[in-house]
Amino acid sequence: MVELKPTHYDGVFSDGRDFFTRNLAAGVKVYGEKLLTCGGKEYRRWDPYRSKLAALLQRGCPEWPFKEDTEVLYLGAASGTTASHLSDICMEGRLYCIEISSRVFRKLLDVAVRRPNMMPFLGDADRPDAYKSLFGLVEVVYQDVAQRDQVPIFLKNVSFLGPGGLGFLMVKARSIDVAAQPADIYRQVSKDLSAAGLSLLGTVRLDPFQKDHAAVVVQKPSGQA
Ligand SMILES: C[S@@+](CC[C@H](N)C(=O)[O-])C[C@H]1O[C@@H](n2cnc3c(N)ncnc32)[C@H](O)[C@@H]1O
Repeated sequence: MVELKPTHYDGVFSDGRDFFTRNLAAGVKVYGEKLLTCGGKEYRRWDPYRSKLAALLQRGCPEWPFKEDTEVLYLGAASGTTASHLSDICMEGRLYCIEISSRVFRKLLDVAVRRPNMMPFLGDADRPDAYKSLFGLVEVVYQDVAQRDQVPIFLKNVSFLGPGGLGFLMVKARSIDVAAQPADIYRQVSKDLSAAGLSLLGTVRLDPFQKDHAAVVVQKPSGQA
C-alpha cells in the first residue's frame, strides 16, 4: 500500500517520488491523472510533464505561498490542469481563472462546476480592465500564457498583487524568441521584472519536464501599493 506524506509545500503530498494533492472533487479526474486513496482520503497525482507548477516542485520552488485560503489570479488557465491542483490546495480560497480561448474555456467550465473555489472568466489577460471589477487584491498572480508578449502581460496584472504578494511567471522561451538561447531569454525576463520594481526570488529551469521553459518567481515589495 502506498503511503503519502505531507511535504514542506502546504497542501502537497508525496510518496517519495511523485507529488499529489487531495482531490476536492472526489472520484473525478481532470486530465486522466492517477487517483490514489490513502487513510480514507483521495489524492490526485500531479504530473510534472503536464503542469509547469508540478515541474517547479520537482525542481525546487523558491517560495510556496499557496495555503488553504489563498486567493490567486491565474492567467492562461486552459482546461484547468494546473488550476485544478491549486483548487485542491486553496480549498477555502479563490482562483480567478482567465482564459482567452473559448474552445478550452468550455472544458475549464466543466472542471469549475465541481470546484466552488474556481471562478472562470473568458477574457484576454492583456486587457485586465475587462475583469478588474471582479475581485480586489490577490496574494498570488500565476501566469502561463505562452505568448510573445508574456512579460508585458504579466506586468499589467501585477497591479492585482497585494503588498508582499508573489508572482509566478512561467516563461516559454521559444514564444518570446524562437532563435535566442533560452538562458538569455530567462536573464532578460528576470532583468525586466526587477526593473519594474519586483524582487526576484528565483529563476528555475523546468527542463526536462517542460522543455525550454523556466519559472520566474517574484515578490511585490511590502511597501508597494
Ligand atoms: C500553456 S497553456 C496553459 C496551461 C495551463 N496553465 C495549465 O498548466 O494547466 C496556455 C494558455 O494560455 C491561453 N492564453 C494565451 N494568451 C492568453 C491571453 N492573452 N489571455 C488569457 N489566456 C491566454 C491559451 O489559450 C492557452 O490555453
